[in-house]
Amino acid sequence: MPRFSIRGVDPVLCLAHGDAEYFKAIPKRMLPTPQDLLDSIKPSQRDEPDSGILVAVNHGFGRPDIIPLWTGEGHLPTPQFICDAAISSLRNGETFYTWQRGIPELREALAQYHARQCGGAFKQDNFFVTSSGMQAMQTIFQLLAREGDEIIVPTPAWPNYPGPMRMMGIVPVYVPIRFENRIWQIDLEQLFDSVTGKTKAICLNSPSNPLGWVASCDQLLAVRDFARRHGLWIIADEVYSRFYYPESGGLGRSPSFLDICEHEERVVYANTFSKNWAMTGWRVGWVQAPKALGAAIERIIQYNTSGTPVFLQRGCVAALEEGEDFVIKQVTRARHNRDMVCKTLRQFPQVQFEVPGGAFYQFFSLDGMRDSTKTVLRIIDEAKIGLAPGGTFGAGGEGFMRMCYLRDPDVLATALERLGNWLGSARPD
Ligand SMILES: Cc1ncc(COP(=O)(O)O)c(C=O)c1O
Repeated sequence: MPRFSIRGVDPVLCLAHGDAEYFKAIPKRMLPTPQDLLDSIKPSQRDEPDSGILVAVNHGFGRPDIIPLWTGEGHLPTPQFICDAAISSLRNGETFYTWQRGIPELREALAQYHARQCGGAFKQDNFFVTSSGMQAMQTIFQLLAREGDEIIVPTPAWPNYPGPMRMMGIVPVYVPIRFENRIWQIDLEQLFDSVTGKTKAICLNSPSNPLGWVASCDQLLAVRDFARRHGLWIIADEVYSRFYYPESGGLGRSPSFLDICEHEERVVYANTFSKNWAMTGWRVGWVQAPKALGAAIERIIQYNTSGTPVFLQRGCVAALEEGEDFVIKQVTRARHNRDMVCKTLRQFPQVQFEVPGGAFYQFFSLDGMRDSTKTVLRIIDEAKIGLAPGGTFGAGGEGFMRMCYLRDPDVLATALERLGNWLGSARPD
């Protein structure tokens, strides 16, 4: 009688020879192929397309001849005083597990920062430290929406909203911000009409990545009143609120839901240390939400990251308490650079754009361009500058390209010269 075997492999023999022999004895055809492995994961994770920004970055990453203007960050490293605070925390042995909501000192510093920015009283009970603004967004989506729920996203928009939504089974519903008469215009009636019985939230990003569009106070009021009437949540992404260029000149802060909403109503804010304080690599952000949600948010953080490292949070406290001069320098440079970019682009009749009122991106179209990804890859190779393809920002974005202009002005001048030469001689795809 033949001995008992698993898939033709004799377990007694295997035991005798140890695990390595066992695996060697398994016929190769029994092992899954890479495709088998992919076929057996969740389709929502497998089938999500890559961000077009990464497609461009991967094409040119590490090439020293390229001036990279593709991702949303400046050229300056984090200021030394912020790094020093993190380093001394490590030296002091702050290397243990920590508060899931964030250390009390950082939550208090966030409350004080908001009080300085917005006036009025803010409490640390409303602040939750997350491991990046991206994770603040993930936390909010996990908190609010069930599978099949819809969230309204005005587009063109940051691709990191719809991607994670789809991966969680949430349905992003796009409402176009239209480029009409060289102005980005949101049609709030259309936005309100797209609400269905499944709508859970309206996700509004102002100042906008990639458009630089800024919602007016009246528009925010209209969204707030509509959301209140229909019991909808507002997800407010105001990470670029300090990068605001009022026509009157000078510095300021963009209109915010913080100015018109109560702390304890259906509004949640996603924010980050990345942009204001040049801390993109730190991956620290925060959620601001009604305090009644504290335990629920704490649980999400517990089961995702189990908290943000203390030494990073010490750096963030320093940023909030001592970083104002740095923020002002960054915003002043961004405004100066925005004007440089617009001056160059105005020379080319085939280029259409609106002067951005905020953030640090120029989103511009090119007559005759049908495939922004192909065109961007060519610009990387031929003009040696890295841009992001507009198509990746969702409905209404194809035909445009995004340039991040928060750079050293001299380097930006070189990039603009290269782009100008390319526009003067090449045809887009
Ligand atoms: C609109 C918007 N929100 C949130 C973020 C999150 O930033 P981070 O994950 O670097 O904290 C970004 C980053 O580019 C952004 O553009």
